[in-house]
Amino acid sequence: MSAGETVRAIRIREPGGPEVLEMVEVHLPPPAPGELRVRVTTSGVNRADLLQRGGAYPAPLGFPEDIPGLEYAGLVEAVGPGCSVRKSGDRVMGVVAGGAYAEAINVRERETIRAPEGVSLEQAGGIPEVFVTAWDALFRQARLTAGESVLIHAVGSGVGTAAVQLALAVGARPVGTSRSPEKVERARELGLVLGVVGPEGWTHSVQELTDGHGADVILDLVGAAYLEGNLEAMARGCRWIVVGVPGGALGQINLRRLMSQRATLRGTVLRSRSPEEKVILARAFQDHVVPLFERGEVRPVVDTILPADKAAVAHRRLEANDSFGKLLLRW
Ligand SMILES: NC(=O)c1ccc[n+]([C@@H]2O[C@H](COP(=O)([O-])OP(=O)(O)OC[C@H]3O[C@@H](n4cnc5c(N)ncnc54)[C@H](OP(=O)(O)O)[C@@H]3O)[C@@H](O)[C@H]2O)c1
Repeated sequence: MSAGETVRAIRIREPGGPEVLEMVEVHLPPPAPGELRVRVTTSGVNRADLLQRGGAYPAPLGFPEDIPGLEYAGLVEAVGPGCSVRKSGDRVMGVVAGGAYAEAINVRERETIRAPEGVSLEQAGGIPEVFVTAWDALFRQARLTAGESVLIHAVGSGVGTAAVQLALAVGARPVGTSRSPEKVERARELGLVLGVVGPEGWTHSVQELTDGHGADVILDLVGAAYLEGNLEAMARGCRWIVVGVPGGALGQINLRRLMSQRATLRGTVLRSRSPEEKVILARAFQDHVVPLFERGEVRPVVDTILPADKAAVAHRRLEANDSFGKLLLRW
């Protein structure tokens, strides 16, 4: 039995700014029963990594405290006892609860997702976290259907750019906000029907575009800053789902408006789900969304792929809201 190997990884030396990220060598044990060792091509950089780096978002039990990283794409290199689905050389990608900033990682086989044919493994690193989040929120939870309007805040974000494409793929009408005119313009190139810049004035535009109907679904990637506007923009029966709160977590809600619109407000998070829930989600995503990539109906939106030792640069760019789509680290 192999004793494992030494691999390069990005470690958080101590809670702090981007400068605390450093390249180190760590011991990776052989894959345990039910696990695969994946040689990582790219790791995605996510907002949660910034929080974890600052000490505000600890990894769940069983995942390294000091190595961030919620997603990867790469090649299966070794197969642990009891695995039956993947084999060495398979192209896979996936969401993990931590530790993906590494050149190799052990992952649970049943949480891996087949990387789409026709998409390079480098680009595939930009798929799992944002497409799984957007797809799960829009379709499995908010039940978005063809012909409906979906309002997507921070439309130039990784999740936002995924959501625009997924909405179009089912025949829904994506409208969105960003504080950056350039991001709105780029989202239009993805097929965004209406893009509005800034925190003001967008409710009127959403109402106008939908002939006063409003948004059937709100994919909220901003939070409190747009709370009042969301209440105005809701269509009757609106499903409003909160996925991220960079614009604040606290605010006041007029519950009467929620009642009169017979609206639903819910929140969601991927990281803390049980292994069983994650397996079900990965399988469903592979069945329903991977084919969309293979048919060219959706694609990963990658802003920049940086060498892994430039993780601090990627964190600074994310903090400055300076990216459209995904930032990735190449190993
Ligand atoms: N619940 C989950 O499981 C889950 C999973 C993945 C992501 N998320 C969350 O979903 C959100 C999007 O993730 P991502 O990785 O796609 O993000 P991202 O690519 O880093 O983009 C986030 C965008 O949010 C906007 N933003 C930041 N601060 C803002 C503020 N104060 N007011 C208004 N807009 C603000 C910025 O867009 P503009 O420059 O256009 O304003 C920024 O580019 C994040 O909050 C993330 O934490 C949650």
